Amino acid sequence: MAIFLTGSEDATIQFAKEYARSLKAGDVVLLEGEMGAGKTVFAKGVAQGLGIEEEITSPTYAYMNDYGGKLYHYDCYRLASGDAARALGLTDYFGGEGICLIEWAENIKDALPEGCKKVTIKRISCANREIICE
Ligand SMILES: Nc1ncnc2c1ncn2[C@@H]1O[C@H](COP(=O)(O)OP(=O)(O)OP(=O)(O)O)[C@@H](O)[C@H]1O
Ligand SMILES: [Mg+2]
Repeated sequence: MAIFLTGSEDATIQFAKEYARSLKAGDVVLLEGEMGAGKTVFAKGVAQGLGIEEEITSPTYAYMNDYGGKLYHYDCYRLASGDAARALGLTDYFGGEGICLIEWAENIKDALPEGCKKVTIKRISCANREIICE
């Protein structure tokens, strides 16, 4: 486990860019933290670290955005269960060629594979965040 502190959105993006270097094809990373913690900001940094040039937007309404098969960014906030995720085919990408980043993964807990990585972001103050990588 490692704990990092960031004092701005940009610093979180920089940190996530570095973090991306530790990721391999097939990795599933659970992004934890309350609303507005910075999960989507972190995903932006990971995408930059993977050399993705497309703009990363929150996939709230689409559940998942596919960035060229390289990165799959999920927002499971509106998903009711692991079965719902399976029925939508959202679990098909776990352990594949790309990297999966999942926000609100607790909503689809029973559909997650084993051996997921976890990044927890805690809001300390308006601009400060604690980022815990496990
Ligand atoms: N150090 C920081 N790191 C990341 N974001 C920060 C930081 N300081 C302030 N922010 C702000 O916090 C907000 C984080 O928003 P973001 O959409 O990433 O949250 P989220 O965790 O994805 O929320 P949701 O669960 O609603 O999807 C942004 O407005 C960002 O500018
Ligand atoms: Mg988000």
